[in-house]
Amino acid sequence: MDIVVAGTGYVGLVTGACLAEVGHKVICVDVDEKKIGIMKKGISPIYEPGLSDLLEKNYANGNLDFTTDYEEAYRKADVVFIGVGTPERSDGSANLDYVFSVCGQIAKNITKDCLVVVKSTVPIGTNDRVEEFLRENVENNIQVEVASNPEFLAQGTAVKDTLYASRIVIGVESENAKNILMNIYKRFNQPIVVTNRRSAEMIKYASNDFLALKISFINEMANVCEIVGADIEDVAKGMSYDSRIGNKFLNAGIGYGGSCFPKDTKALHWLANDHGYEVKTIKATIEVNENQKYKLFRKAKEFFGSLKNKRVAILGLTFKPGTDDLREAPSIPNIRRMLDEGAKIIAYDPVGENNFKKIYPDEITYAESIEESIKDADMVFIFTEWEEVKNIDIDIFIKEMKTPIIFDGRNCFDLNDICEKSVYYYSIGRKTINNFIKKNLMKKNFFEGGN
Ligand code: UDX
Ligand code: UDX
Repeated sequence: MDIVVAGTGYVGLVTGACLAEVGHKVICVDVDEKKIGIMKKGISPIYEPGLSDLLEKNYANGNLDFTTDYEEAYRKADVVFIGVGTPERSDGSANLDYVFSVCGQIAKNITKDCLVVVKSTVPIGTNDRVEEFLRENVENNIQVEVASNPEFLAQGTAVKDTLYASRIVIGVESENAKNILMNIYKRFNQPIVVTNRRSAEMIKYASNDFLALKISFINEMANVCEIVGADIEDVAKGMSYDSRIGNKFLNAGIGYGGSCFPKDTKALHWLANDHGYEVKTIKATIEVNENQKYKLFRKAKEFFGSLKNKRVAILGLTFKPGTDDLREAPSIPNIRRMLDEGAKIIAYDPVGENNFKKIYPDEITYAESIEESIKDADMVFIFTEWEEVKNIDIDIFIKEMKTPIIFDGRNCFDLNDICEKSVYYYSIGRKTINNFIKKNLMKKNFFEGGN
């Protein structure tokens, strides 16, 4: 069976590599020539643990190939997986232009019956539209069917999440489509949930939006903890022993980012609204996240009065550890606000620097190490919980910074390890440690109009 994967972003490339790894013959198509050239050398264009090894191995053994020649690829295809992006439009709806552009290419070039599998996250009903479009546009007497097969991979663990998926969801409208996909996926040996197409599309949104809701919920609980003097880590731990609640996605912080939660919450909200229904829980999820994003910034403002001429160290730029992806990373708008205030930024991220330079090429300074970033800083913001950051010896803040004032958006440190240290430490939903301020406030005025 000839399998083609259209789009070699996180979803398409990981899907293609994993299908090849279990023994299928796969060709990945992308319009980006540079990307295809890199992959042909066995190099992954994205930072994703384990992916380079899979690419190298399966390209070498002939299971996996890459091309920009979509005409040739679709000509031979039995199955085409669509994994191109579905970015957010300014009104929150999903932009399906790439999906339909690929469908146009498929319709024009296929020469035999073909199953088109939509992996990209698409609004409910899109698979029906895609099938209609393909059937209207294919030439000759070719039979085209469409199936929905949403992905549930998280960046940083994408290969593992695909090879050892918690479940594989297949949305089909015919036995033929079901059999083809069951056949492709039986080699993965994972639970397979078969539904109709609309339910499969909805499973994806409901899953992502539920996880986003869980994060916004715990963030609100953290905000309440700060008010009432409780500790969110203890609260989450206490909750997690109830298996109905579980212990995942209960980490309070400065909100969710990434390529999925922000986009998928807005897309479902938009879609329901378009049908005259308001999903109140999702609306609140989005609002809470937007507010949470600037929590540290607000705290610093409240604290210093103004950030003008302050030296601000930033640890972590990516939306989460284990990836160089910056999509919807809270660091981006926060740094904008800091720059607008007149702060001087010295940022450090173990892998995100190159991508960040595309957004902020000149306005900020990049450090090669944590020490370099915090040296002589007036304050430090932690936006990503990289292991390297979590393993910092607290004393280096005291040694290197001008004033060891720490705003931690990812609760990287144990309060027991920090409570005796001479620092100011604000984290999310926990007691603020203010030994440094207590000690120095009487001696010196650090803050321009702050407390
Ligand atoms: C994915 C999914 O597709 C999206 O629906 C999901 O919700 C999140 O992740 P991602 O893999 O991250 O998107 O997309 P992106 O990194 O934008 O990669 C898409 C690739 O498709 C790019 O390499 C782009 O060059 C390619 N592409 C795009 C095509 O080959 N043809 C096109 O017409 C458009
Ligand atoms: C997510 C889903 O997990 C995945 O199943 C889906 O297919 C795509 O979207 P991803 O965006 O890669 O994956 O990352 P994820 O690990 O889910 O984290 C998303 C965001 O939520 C990050 O910004 C992370 O910092 C934040 N988060 C996560 C929290 O703030 N608290 C948590 O407890 C968990």
